[in-house]
Amino acid sequence: MAGTTAETTAAIIDGKAFAAGLRARIATQVAELKAAQGITPGLAVVLVGEDPASAVYVRNKGIQTREVGMSSFEHKLPAETPEADLLALIDRLNADPAVHGILVQLPLPGHMDATKVINAIAPAKDADGFHILNVGLLGTGQKAMVPCTPLGCLMMLRDHLGSLAGLNAVVVGRSNIVGKPMAQLLLNESCTVTVAHSRTRDLPDVCRGADILVAAVGRPGMIKGDWVKPGATVIDVGINRIEVDGKARLVGDVDYAAAARVAGAITPVPGGVGPMTIACLLANTLTACCRANGLPDPEGLTP
Ligand code: GUN
Repeated sequence: MAGTTAETTAAIIDGKAFAAGLRARIATQVAELKAAQGITPGLAVVLVGEDPASAVYVRNKGIQTREVGMSSFEHKLPAETPEADLLALIDRLNADPAVHGILVQLPLPGHMDATKVINAIAPAKDADGFHILNVGLLGTGQKAMVPCTPLGCLMMLRDHLGSLAGLNAVVVGRSNIVGKPMAQLLLNESCTVTVAHSRTRDLPDVCRGADILVAAVGRPGMIKGDWVKPGATVIDVGINRIEVDGKARLVGDVDYAAAARVAGAITPVPGGVGPMTIACLLANTLTACCRANGLPDPEGLTP
């Protein structure tokens, strides 16, 4: 059995391939929606300021949105835009019937209240699932818009493990974007869930109890190989830029080489969780479009 001896290596969960397959399925469903109903799903992405990493993400989102046949609406505002102007733009997007999903790229400039901005998005168009109403719906096990990164992690876990019921899941990290919604999704799958964080006592021991270990802390290589239970499924959400021998490298929150000798399966960085996030943003946009038009949820794109 994979991952039960020191010699064996974990199965690699190929997020890049999974995301490509997911986008292909979305493209097919978008084409069917256009043909049968004359509806084109639309995603609006709002970028405030010039943060280079955010600009790259927004560009990639636009490219992939168009590739699956959806309409992409990009709004780039200067960093010094007054908050009231951003809120007015969100109001217009909320009222625009061609826009089914809205994403405001974070972080926002310091003079803006991100919580206020996110909660100004119509909950049904909240492609990120960050609106307080969607947080509450997810937390009570109701139909919600679900944050993209945890949704992508759940899809990979389900694909790899089938039913997750009864498994011990440890989520390391308690952010609103990943850790907390991930824990809610796993609880809704009937896992026994522990949320660990920087103040957790004996974190290595807590991690060793995990059949499913999700690392979302943003600290390169923090989770060591001997923290991983033999045969466990390890999902590494971290995307950390480090320098090795003067060269820039992307690494996760897990010491990949060591963990891969122990785990049953593991996501690499890059090429694991990362590509799933934008694919799930497209999935959420299609879901929002179907719900807005009184159609059933698209197949296989919701929890
Ligand atoms: N910035 C980094 N990740 C995200 C994300 O998932 N959504 C938004 N809106 N901004 C981000």
